[in-house]
Amino acid sequence: MRFGEHFTEHLVSATWQEATGWTGPPRLGPFGPLTISPAMVGLHYGQVVFEGLKAYRWQDGTLAVFRPDAHARRFQRSAERMAMPHLPEEYFLQAVDAFVATDGTALPAGDPALSLYLRPVMFASEACLALRPSREYTFLLMGFVTGGFFSDEPNPIAVLVSREYSRAAPGGTGQAKAAGNYAGAFLAQQAAVDAGCDQVVWVDAAEQRWIEELGGMNIFFVRGSGPGATVVTPALTGTLLPGVTRDSLLTLARERGYPVSEERISVEQWRDECRSGLITETFACGTAAVVTPVGRVVDGGTTWHVGDEKPGPVTLELRQALIDLHLGWTADSHGWSRLI
Ligand code: COI
Repeated sequence: MRFGEHFTEHLVSATWQEATGWTGPPRLGPFGPLTISPAMVGLHYGQVVFEGLKAYRWQDGTLAVFRPDAHARRFQRSAERMAMPHLPEEYFLQAVDAFVATDGTALPAGDPALSLYLRPVMFASEACLALRPSREYTFLLMGFVTGGFFSDEPNPIAVLVSREYSRAAPGGTGQAKAAGNYAGAFLAQQAAVDAGCDQVVWVDAAEQRWIEELGGMNIFFVRGSGPGATVVTPALTGTLLPGVTRDSLLTLARERGYPVSEERISVEQWRDECRSGLITETFACGTAAVVTPVGRVVDGGTTWHVGDEKPGPVTLELRQALIDLHLGWTADSHGWSRLI
C-alpha cells in the first residue's frame, strides 16, 4: 500500500474570513475535488501549513488517535509563523473525531502494521495577488490507510548528507510545518535517492556541519550500549521541526532509565563516533516513519556504517514501546491516546 495515494471517503472542512473568524465548526463532507480561484494566495505565495498524525485500531476494535492535542498546538504554532489564524484546538479535535468516527471503518482490525494517517492542512484561499497575508483561509482534514513509510519491518535505511542545499536558516520557517519546507527539500531528497539512499540528512545552514533532521523526520543517536547507553537527538534550535514522535521518544527513553541529551552533534562527530564504536545506533522517527533504523551514511565520497548495520537494541526497544502505546498494548499512563 503506497503512502498517501488512496484516500478514504470523507473530508472535514472549515473556513475563516477576516470579518467573521471561523465561520463555524469543521463539517464532514465527501472527499473530492475543490473549486479554487487561480489567483488563490496559497497557490502563489505558499501560505500553507499542515500536520500528520495517526489513528490506530486496538485489539478490542477501539480507534485511538495518538497525541492529537500536541498536533493541534503545533498546527497553531506553524500557522502563527506563516501569519495565519489559529485553528482552535477544540476545532482541530472535532475534525479528528468526526473524520475517524466515519472513515475509521477503512482501517481493518487484526493488522497492527496498518494505521489511518490523518492529514490536516490549512491554506490561504483568498483570490488576491497583493503581497500580504490572505484574508480568507480553508482548513481541511483528509486521510488514508497506510503501512510503514519505508517498510512494515524495521529495516535499516541509508541516508545522504546534503552539503549543497539547506533546509532552514535561523529566523526562517524551519520549525513550522510549512508546505514549502517540503518542496524545498525535494531536490536534495532526489539526490539522496540517486545516490542509492532513502533520505537526505540536513545540516545547519551557517556552518554546514551540525545535524538537524532528515527529509521528513527527526533523527536520534545512541551512544554506548547496555543500560549505560545515552539517547541523543539534535537540540531544537529553531531550524528543525519539533516532532511529536521525537518528544514521545525522549519521554519513553527517560522512563526506561536512559540518560537523554538534546545537543549539537556534527556530521564529523557522527562519522568518527560510529567508526570508534561510541555511537552504536542511529534511527529516524516521525509520525510516518515511526522508528526506523539508519544503517549507512553517505557524505560526499565517504561512507560509514552505524554499528553492524542491523537494528540496534535501544532502537528496537523504543520502537516497541511506542508501538505498544499506539496499539493500546500497554496502559496509556501519559494520556496520549484519544479514544474515538
Ligand atoms: C509525518 O511524519 O507525518 C510527516 O509529516 C512527514 C511526511 C511529510 C511524510
